Amino acid sequence: MHPNTQTIHTPVLLSAVLKCLAPHRGESYLDVTAGYGGHATAVCQQTEAPERMTLVDRDATAIAALQPLADKGAALMHADFLTASQSLAEKGDQYDMILADLGVSSLHLDSPERGFSFRAKGPLDMRMDSRNQLTAATIVNEYDEQALVEILRHNGEEPRAKKIAAMIAARRPFADTLELADAIAEIIPKKGKIHPATRTFQALRIAVNDELGQLENSLDLWLSLLTPGGRLGVISFHSLEDRIVKQVFAKVSGERYDADFRLVTKKPVVGDDTEIVFNPRSRSAKLRVVAKIKNTERERQYANPRKK
Ligand SMILES: C[S@@+](CC[C@H](N)C(=O)[O-])C[C@H]1O[C@@H](n2cnc3c(N)ncnc32)[C@H](O)[C@@H]1O
Repeated sequence: MHPNTQTIHTPVLLSAVLKCLAPHRGESYLDVTAGYGGHATAVCQQTEAPERMTLVDRDATAIAALQPLADKGAALMHADFLTASQSLAEKGDQYDMILADLGVSSLHLDSPERGFSFRAKGPLDMRMDSRNQLTAATIVNEYDEQALVEILRHNGEEPRAKKIAAMIAARRPFADTLELADAIAEIIPKKGKIHPATRTFQALRIAVNDELGQLENSLDLWLSLLTPGGRLGVISFHSLEDRIVKQVFAKVSGERYDADFRLVTKKPVVGDDTEIVFNPRSRSAKLRVVAKIKNTERERQYANPRKK
């Protein structure tokens, strides 16, 4: 692992991930949001098969931090996970375990120059992949007011979407993150500890990185990339993501006799109090896991239909 990344980014729900994905020696692993390799390193300790790991991230800094795992044999893919998963599916690859730990890393939020945080001055950027064209500045300073309202409502569930969009349209251009955050704080009263710009920044980030589109279009691909008996885990951080995952997992694992998948987690796994104290990012994390049913499992089910 890259120096310092263990302290910079602590993998969320690590013990639950290991329990639900249950890595066995020699199994293959696809991490579509490998980040700083926290989950991947822990999985690798159990599989002892770095050469059977594929690690995807759209962020160049994360890819550089994953080099130690690549040196041991892991394949690295610097791409968004939709593009990466499409190309793995085209090649016919299959994995025993797939993990998606969605969203940004602590390092993104703690690097003002990336523009993700409203707490420090930085450019209105928010791109996870700096090779992409679209930045938050383009959306904030160029999109028409109605498009801004829709982004704030759809991606941020912001109840004051209209008011914020009208203010942005009237006062732009905005030069940096603090200027935008302060302008929002001027018109929206602070509620408790939550900064009034929180939902706007989340909405912009999701739009810049097409986060919901990426997830919606990738879930079926991930299911198709599983080996029989393979496990797919998704960690989400807000209700918009979790809803998408929950619906797809419920659809494919339904009570049908011929369902191809079964829910490993009937309810989402969340962090316990200790984890939340040591890793505040886990406060809103939810892990859902499905497994692809093996033919032998199905045959047993037919022989003894009451047993689940
Ligand atoms: C929460 S961090 C993952 C941390 C990782 N599980 C660990 O233990 O170090 C999320 C990572 O996913 C990447 N990411 C988010 N969305 C992505 C996407 N659509 N395609 C590829 N990478 C993505 C981000 O760049 C970030 O590095």
